[in-house]
Amino acid sequence: MSSQQPPNLERVLFTEEQIQQRIKEVAAEISAKYRDRNLKLIGVLKGSVFFLTALAREISIPVKIDFLAISSFANSVGTPGLVRIAKDLDEGIEGDDVLLVEDIVDTGFTSRYLLQTLSGRGPNSLAICTLLDRTPRRIVQVPVEFRCFEIPDRFVIGFGLDYKQLYRNLGYIAVMKPG
Ligand code: IMP
Ligand code: MG
Repeated sequence: MSSQQPPNLERVLFTEEQIQQRIKEVAAEISAKYRDRNLKLIGVLKGSVFFLTALAREISIPVKIDFLAISSFANSVGTPGLVRIAKDLDEGIEGDDVLLVEDIVDTGFTSRYLLQTLSGRGPNSLAICTLLDRTPRRIVQVPVEFRCFEIPDRFVIGFGLDYKQLYRNLGYIAVMKPG
């Protein structure tokens, strides 16, 4: 384990080896399902970058890649779940078979917003692929086509996921101690 191990780490949830193995399995599913299609991976910055590149390296069919960034904020009365695009895609997605690649689907607000927005741009198909799925916290229902791992209702870091912008580059995924 690296010297940047966070002091408030409770336990490792998935090791680097477990993550790589699972990504290989999901990449094989994707390669089979999207054979002879126009697969485009769309990464949601910044959390999905590590997952997207690892996944893309294991996909055995031609694949295009693009990124967008979102910002989430609460409205004036503090209601969460408002999302907007802070950096849009470089190219259109008309005719593409789009896989929206996420670090984690949590409440579902981000994914639902992106599905709604991107579906209006004429993709041939549109689905979600997420590294982590935390269904106990879901508020809005979204269809998750591919997931690597289900996780319990605990805050996690590593493999792209941050705490105050740190720990994205950990090779493993860990649960943080509360508080
Ligand atoms: P949503 O609640 O499904 O809209 O997820 C919003 C975003 O919150 C995710 O894409 C992550 O960037 C972030 N997030 C949610 N849970 C965690 C966590 O446990 N660790 C780090 N980031 C998280
Ligand atoms: Mg984040």
